[in-house]
Amino acid sequence: MSSSDIDGDSVPFTLLVRGASAVLTADGPESSDAGLTLASRAGDAVGIRGHEVAWIGPETALPHGLVTRGTEFLDAEGGLVVPGFVDCHSHVVFAGDRSEEFALRSLDVDAVGITRSGGGIISTVFATRAKDEDALIRLALPRLERLLAHGVTTLEVKSGYGLTLEDELKLLRVVRRLGSLQPVTLVPTFLWMHALPPEWASDRAGFLALGRRTLEAVVREGLAEFADAFVEQGAFTPEEARSFLTEAKRLGLRLRLHVDQLSAGRGAELAAELGAVSADHLECVSPQGIAALARAGVTAVLMPVATLVLRRPTYAPGKALREAGVPVALASNVNPGSAPTENLSLSLGLACLLNGLTPDEALLGVTRWGAQALGRTDVGRLKVGGPADLLVLGCREVAHLSAHLGVRHARAVVKGGRVVLRANDGARCP
Ligand code: NIG
Repeated sequence: MSSSDIDGDSVPFTLLVRGASAVLTADGPESSDAGLTLASRAGDAVGIRGHEVAWIGPETALPHGLVTRGTEFLDAEGGLVVPGFVDCHSHVVFAGDRSEEFALRSLDVDAVGITRSGGGIISTVFATRAKDEDALIRLALPRLERLLAHGVTTLEVKSGYGLTLEDELKLLRVVRRLGSLQPVTLVPTFLWMHALPPEWASDRAGFLALGRRTLEAVVREGLAEFADAFVEQGAFTPEEARSFLTEAKRLGLRLRLHVDQLSAGRGAELAAELGAVSADHLECVSPQGIAALARAGVTAVLMPVATLVLRRPTYAPGKALREAGVPVALASNVNPGSAPTENLSLSLGLACLLNGLTPDEALLGVTRWGAQALGRTDVGRLKVGGPADLLVLGCREVAHLSAHLGVRHARAVVKGGRVVLRANDGARCP
């Protein structure tokens, strides 16, 4: 595509982003080894018409007549322009605070000790059940605001803190309402198999049967795009997940799985067998699991913040996954336990330091591959005719994004063609 490509329309741009050091589209050709480049377009400007990207190229070659008095300008002031970030794994709707667990881990208390002291996923389930939809919305909105400030324009959100029919529907309805209350696009996932609530401790089969009835209600109401399961010792077995997720797939949901996080459990192989869109966590994935993901075309989702916060000894093998040809996405995993932060920028740095990714790969992980982990090809890249979700960064180099750990790099966020955030504090080109 040449810089003069436009969508054939002569209607003026509504917004022109100009003055970028480069526009990184993440829209290069597919490659078999997942070694995609960031596809820097020779250009420094993006013309937007309504919700869509209409033109990308050098400002000196702007198509005549498309910039008029009605066109709004956004000056990148020498920063990079990149696609809006796609954060493909979060548990952002919850109540309660579990900072105490962070303190306990600093005293070497393990997961069993944390559960005994009243913490863990189930404590969030109790806190979340106690809140109504409005209260959960009030709690989630500032988290979404912080994610947006870090450049997230599309976010996957799981249920999994309700675990009764009514509470899971409540959570997914909250996600739906949140989608229309703020700019970030939300992609809902039904996560029934997150933890076994104590009232079902002696009746796993009963809990799973209720899950199936809840699944049917979720599908009837059109509340989720994906179904998910936490496959782990102490959570759910591969057999339980296989049966439940096969039913979810039959009912039209796509699949994603939490696998091989705390122990090697052939979870990646299960994700591959089920044709999941993504396999998430993967700290303990085996070489056979990696090969299975590559063969089945499953996208890996790494969340180094959780590995760090849980003080786990092993980080997911990002480099080995990439070398095997598995696309590697990165996600924040926002939740009150293992990832109590909306700072997706931190994940970029940690992925380079601890998962063996390069800064370019880390950026692809929150753009192109983040979108692929949601089965999306429209977002996570910039292309003419695609949604105008983009970031103006306060840096000129991709490496800066990962090197400056946890810094908020987004100087402006454009969502659906609208400037939804301008940061006046910091985020300046060095
Ligand atoms: O993705 N692994 C399971 N679920 C979450 C943790 C949620 C929680 O601790 O509340 C995760 O890390």
